[in-house]
Formats: sequence, C-alpha cells, structure tokens
Amino acid sequence: MQKFAVFVSGNGSNLQAIIDAVKAGEIKAELALVFSNRRKALGLKRAEEAGIKTLFLDRKHYGTPQSYDRDIVIHLKKEGIDFIVLAGYMKLLSAWFVKQYPNQIINVHPSLLPSFKGMNGIKDAFTYGVKQTGVTIHFVSAKMDQGPIIIQEAFKVTEKETLESLAEHIHKVEHKIFPKAIALFVDGRLKVKGRKVEILK
Ligand code: GRF
Repeated sequence: MQKFAVFVSGNGSNLQAIIDAVKAGEIKAELALVFSNRRKALGLKRAEEAGIKTLFLDRKHYGTPQSYDRDIVIHLKKEGIDFIVLAGYMKLLSAWFVKQYPNQIINVHPSLLPSFKGMNGIKDAFTYGVKQTGVTIHFVSAKMDQGPIIIQEAFKVTEKETLESLAEHIHKVEHKIFPKAIALFVDGRLKVKGRKVEILK
C-alpha cells in the first residue's frame, strides 16, 4: 500500500476530510504522517486524535529555506512516504523539494486557477466580483499554484453571497472533491502529459 503525508499550517478541515476518506476506504493508501510548519496548527491535533504520526519542524531553527526543506525530505524518506498532499500548507516548497516528488504532490486551491493565485483566493475572487468561482485540485510544480490541474468544480456566486457564505461554500466543495482527486491518484488513474491530466476510466 502506498504511504502518504499531509502538510498543514492551520485548521485542517481538509485534512479531516482526508482522514475520514481513508477510514471509509475511499482512499486506499496509508496516511502515515501529518507535517506542519506551525506548532499550534489545529491540523496536528486532528491527526493526533486520529492516531496518526505528526511532525513539527520550526523554520526558525534553519538558516535557509533549502535546509528546512532538506530536513523535511529526510523525515519523509525515513517514513517511506510515496506522495504528499498539501492541505492548507501556507509555505512555498522550494524547487528542489518539488523535484524530489515530481507529480507526486497534490494541492487544493480555493479558486478556479489560474485566477486568484496566492494566499487569499476566496477573498480576492469575492472582491473582484466574479459571478462564478470554485475549487482547483492540482499537482504542485516549482511555480506557485501553476501545476497541472487534476479537477476543478465551479459554482455561481449569488448576489446575496457574503465573504463568509462564499468561504463556507468553497470549503464544502473542497471537502468533497479533494479526497476524490487523491483517490484517483492512488488508484493510478491520473496520467500527466505536460500540462494536461487525463483521468483514466
Ligand atoms: C483551504 O481553503 C485551501 O484551499 C487553502 O487553505 C485552506 C485550508 O483550510 N489552501 P483547512 O486548513 O483545510 O481548513
């Protein structure tokens, strides 16, 4: 069985959806490690409660982003991690890190990429006044929010929408499609050709 790690920086509601999908047998892989760059991330607590091994490394103890990433990879290799899922990991991975796991790192982004990249996808789309927005699940490349797209789900932004209701809607969609995309990956159903990801039947 493949082993994977989930990286979190905050609340970890996506991590929770992934934990639940693993438990339900929808993702047929072992969630072997939850890593965080923040000691107080609620995601770490959720992992502990689910009996999953956790790791926190403090960036402050490392001289460069590269040495931090190198140490994370050492831990991942030790655990025999085959692929990585970023679930609200608010730190950019170095190009070197990404090269260690080519098309084996999956991220969730709360907008329809390539629109509204960056830290505030939900708010940026809302403030811009878009009539549709949604969620993107994609492979991670060295450039932020630019890797090949696995799945997207779009929905209409109504006139009554507030930033809060929109965020709620986004998270609901994330929790639905993120575990599905991970399951497709684990089942070997994603074929990457350049920027295109084919979903095999
Ligand atoms: C999600 O909206 C995700 O798209 C973004 O960060 C948020 C993480 O939420 N990258 P949570 O920690 O999974 O609750």
